[in-house]
Amino acid sequence: MSKKILLAGIFLFSVLLSNSQTTKREINEIIKEWASPTKFPDHVVLSATEDPSTSIAINWRTEADNKVGFVELALAGPGPYFKKNSKKYKAERTVVDSQEAYNDGFKASYFEVKIDQLIPNKIYAYRVGNFHFKSEWHHFKTANNQPIPISFLYVGDAQNYILELWSRVIRNAYKTAPDADFFIHAGDLVDKGHEDIDWNEWFAAGSFIHSEIPAIAVPGNHEYRYLDGSVYSQDEVLSVQWNAQFGFPKNGPRGLEKTCYYIDYPDLKIIALNSNVAIKRQAKWLREILKSNDKKWIVVTYHHPLFSASTGRDNPEIRSLWQPIFEEYNIDLALQGHDHSYARGAIYEKPVVVKNENHGGNIIGPVYVVSVSGGKMYSVNKSGWDEYGATQAKNGERIQLFQHISIDGDRLTYRSFTATGELFDRFELLKENGKNLYID
Ligand SMILES: [Fe+2]
Repeated sequence: MSKKILLAGIFLFSVLLSNSQTTKREINEIIKEWASPTKFPDHVVLSATEDPSTSIAINWRTEADNKVGFVELALAGPGPYFKKNSKKYKAERTVVDSQEAYNDGFKASYFEVKIDQLIPNKIYAYRVGNFHFKSEWHHFKTANNQPIPISFLYVGDAQNYILELWSRVIRNAYKTAPDADFFIHAGDLVDKGHEDIDWNEWFAAGSFIHSEIPAIAVPGNHEYRYLDGSVYSQDEVLSVQWNAQFGFPKNGPRGLEKTCYYIDYPDLKIIALNSNVAIKRQAKWLREILKSNDKKWIVVTYHHPLFSASTGRDNPEIRSLWQPIFEEYNIDLALQGHDHSYARGAIYEKPVVVKNENHGGNIIGPVYVVSVSGGKMYSVNKSGWDEYGATQAKNGERIQLFQHISIDGDRLTYRSFTATGELFDRFELLKENGKNLYID
């Protein structure tokens, strides 16, 4: 054996030995270090605003000691000189100390900038940071202010094995629709809602996708957790990071800002509901919003399914208070999570056969979807919707999925894909004579 090989063997053995001696505590410290904020901005995320054709919200994080943050923004150009015309926007800073919820939490500065008066349908470049430490330049495109075809991505719970297994889903979603107008996350983005390590996984998995496609997200039950440190139990509270790290609209009911809100595209209204709290108050708000709606398409998203896809996970309050409103105001699509399985279906007025051997008919209320994108899986209850008069057209279990939805005039095309990019489910909705024709 040569001396080189012998030395390499000794080195490898010593590495293995030192690794095996790493204690669990040391490993936890290393992971905490990995998730800690630094002088450099991270967790850069775009949030959709009430009018995405003229405004955008940008959020990011740094170490707590940093008190200054701003966005530089310019119309993007083909060469590097677009920077000369950039404008600076001072950020609002919030210090979040997640130690109030977790012993291994930490303090961080969160920054938010909401930019208005943008030009519709333009590519903008922006970067975030302070005078010394800045992000790279990111691009985003403002929405059109005229009704043109749009498309978006939607995922159910990322929640578990986020970095390990959700990464491949969000990245394949991006590869399938890199020009998607926005990205819906239907709750349980993370497992431990107050924990920075979980959030750091979510941001690492999505990376620049979060910084370039505006997010629309609602909190799930895992974003509502107890704050420990208290001897007596108290109400579960919203993730301590949520309001500081996302710039969603504050146009919902008081106290539910950034968790219940609406977003208007020229032909499409997205309504985000918070299915964890104040269900009745949101029902009243929803009715008011829908009374004055002038958009052709309406998509709602919330976490707890109106019809559960798995056994023993019924949500009767949501069903009794929200379903009548969905039906009265002809909501088109309800995008949900929570059940860690897949189900898609609707309530038929009267099933009929339509052309091309597809089956379909007019429906009452929305097409309901439950989907999951992360690595935790439950079994599906295939007959679980029957007692409510709803028909499951497709279901699935133990499969990670993402969805791409396109709207072009009177036609909505929905496609669900597996983590490896195969088409898993598909349907269309056609607006005909004021009704929705649902084609499987
Ligand atoms: Fe959940």
